Amino acid sequence: MAYSSSFILPLLLLLSLSLYATIATATGHEHAARKEKMTHLHFYFHEMYSGPNATGLVVARNSKLIGRAQGLSAQASLDGTALLTAINFVFTEGEYNGSTVAILGRAVPSAPAIERTIVGGSGKFRMARGYTVSKVISWGGGYFLMEFDAYIIHH
Ligand SMILES: *[C@@H]1O[C@H](CO)[C@@H](O)[C@H](O)[C@H]1NC(C)=O
Ligand SMILES: *[C@@H]1O[C@H](CO)[C@@H](O)[C@H](O)[C@H]1NC(C)=O
Repeated sequence: MAYSSSFILPLLLLLSLSLYATIATATGHEHAARKEKMTHLHFYFHEMYSGPNATGLVVARNSKLIGRAQGLSAQASLDGTALLTAINFVFTEGEYNGSTVAILGRAVPSAPAIERTIVGGSGKFRMARGYTVSKVISWGGGYFLMEFDAYIIHH
């Protein structure tokens, strides 16, 4: 049977993004047996992908910068836009400063919601697993804004 996958276009969108939290709700209910916590983070994901300050820091919405997204996305579909994304969220503020969360998943920017897998983490997010749900709020003019909810189970 023919292998129907296209070559991944080496479209390396360097994501050096800024994550702004409106709220970083840490619901720390612990599972008794394994002492796992569920942390819910709600934040905005800003990207400038063109212009002199591409990948630069964007300040918006009166919300606080909580970290950076570092990763790549590659066009991975024969039909339409479907991206393979691999992103590290690197926290630079507050109680998660220095910790990271690793996300891997498929993103169709036109979809009403994009669900991706949390495959691991470091620091406060060691042994992380979970998922993110995001949606594109605006896109165009070299600027990209997404709203993210991350549900992280970790120790
Ligand atoms: C790029 O960043 C510099 C320094 O922060 C700023 O002065 C300049 O206005 C920015 N340019 C654009 C087009 O955003
Ligand atoms: C975050 O951690 C880095 C490295 O330990 C430190 O240099 C920086 O000051 C910290 N930032 C905040 C806002 O605490």
